[in-house]
Amino acid sequence: MPAAQQPEWPDRDRLKRAEAELATMPPLVFAGEARRLSSALSRAVEGRAFLLQAGDCAESFTDFTADTIRDRLKVILQMAIVLTYGAGVPVIKVGRIAGQFAKPRSSATEVVGGVELDAFRGHMVNDDAPLAQARVPDPSRLITAYNQSASTLNLLRAFTKGGFADLAQVHSWNQQFVAASSQGQRFEAIASEIDRALKFMAACGIDTDTEANLHQVEFWTSHEALILGYEEALTRLDSLTGDYYDCSAHLVWVGERTRQLDGAHIDFVSGIHNPIGCKVGPDASPQDVLELCDRLNPHRVPGRLALITRLGASKVETLLPPLIEAARSEEHPVLWVCDPMHANTITSAGGRKTRRFEDVLAEVSGYFSVHRRLRSWPGGLHIELTGDDVTECLGGVTDFGEDDLHLRYTTTCDPRLNARQAIDLAFQVADLLRREPAGQ
Ligand code: PEP
Ligand code: CO
Repeated sequence: MPAAQQPEWPDRDRLKRAEAELATMPPLVFAGEARRLSSALSRAVEGRAFLLQAGDCAESFTDFTADTIRDRLKVILQMAIVLTYGAGVPVIKVGRIAGQFAKPRSSATEVVGGVELDAFRGHMVNDDAPLAQARVPDPSRLITAYNQSASTLNLLRAFTKGGFADLAQVHSWNQQFVAASSQGQRFEAIASEIDRALKFMAACGIDTDTEANLHQVEFWTSHEALILGYEEALTRLDSLTGDYYDCSAHLVWVGERTRQLDGAHIDFVSGIHNPIGCKVGPDASPQDVLELCDRLNPHRVPGRLALITRLGASKVETLLPPLIEAARSEEHPVLWVCDPMHANTITSAGGRKTRRFEDVLAEVSGYFSVHRRLRSWPGGLHIELTGDDVTECLGGVTDFGEDDLHLRYTTTCDPRLNARQAIDLAFQVADLLRREPAGQ
């Protein structure tokens, strides 16, 4: 089947060797974990939970430290607390992390300083440096991506199970540059209320020490399943069920540029048993959505399929209702997730890719109002963020303008919300979610 967006590897033998090596490596996740995520997501389909899927647009081989992993985790945990506390709904935390190394591109080449170069396709494939040599696809990067995913996942497991994510630590997730801002202070107020609630429970005689939910969180990994050789090499037969699982992450999704019904990506994910996502852009018709549902979730298992809509702030209110109606008419249990980033990308006067916080928020609000109108559950949010104090997205609580984007613009691909913008968004989403009649 045609596989869109695959690199032109110059040396097929080296590619085959790298894939063969990957096929002998241990799985990164266990099939049973992926099944537990499916069952958590089924609760989000039923209106009893909310998915927060967040992380980098493209993880980087060069910007890879324990601190950046910790800081991304902190922001996601903070957002999840704001949503859980603000809306009283359990939040399923899924990172775009530990594997998000490959990027689809709208154009195969780009012009940098007057020179045409092959596009950067993520560190799993080539390097982002603006040099012809750096852009040559290198199969050894598949192995590096696997190793970096393994060590990232190891640290995430340590952080989330080993005390860092303990509710008693909630104050320490507020990073210095956030704490001084009004969103940081709002977060501190919630953290103090959580402290009081924990003390109250202890004073009532509840043994808070032995309640694991107070000391650990479940954190799941996800990425776009783009480079099929990599994903196939990590796909394993589960000995317990006899089913195939892509053990590169708990959840993988198919991107907007690779979701052709007769293409290799849709065929690949139709054969694995992980929970899966599929991006749905403004060109998708209700018929496309129905065919995706039939193909990817023929048995209508709730929690199997998330459709991640990225329609654009100005279009979501008109384009989303027919898609929801189509899936509903055939009784497909879709988890509807809003990606308010990818259809709201603009180019600044200085030529940088950016997004306006106001557009991101407008798409989220439109998504909530459509779901409310149709009595459908707004199941989750998919965003690109970083724990760093970057200047990549405009507006919202930040005070920089187009001329300041260059100050701390470190993304190798799309512009990400910084920690203050991400927490601000979480407060606004919590307000929207609180108004939803849950459990329909
Ligand atoms: C992405 O999620 O980074 C991405 C490329 O999204 P989409 O496929 O929706 O354009
Ligand atoms: Co992106």
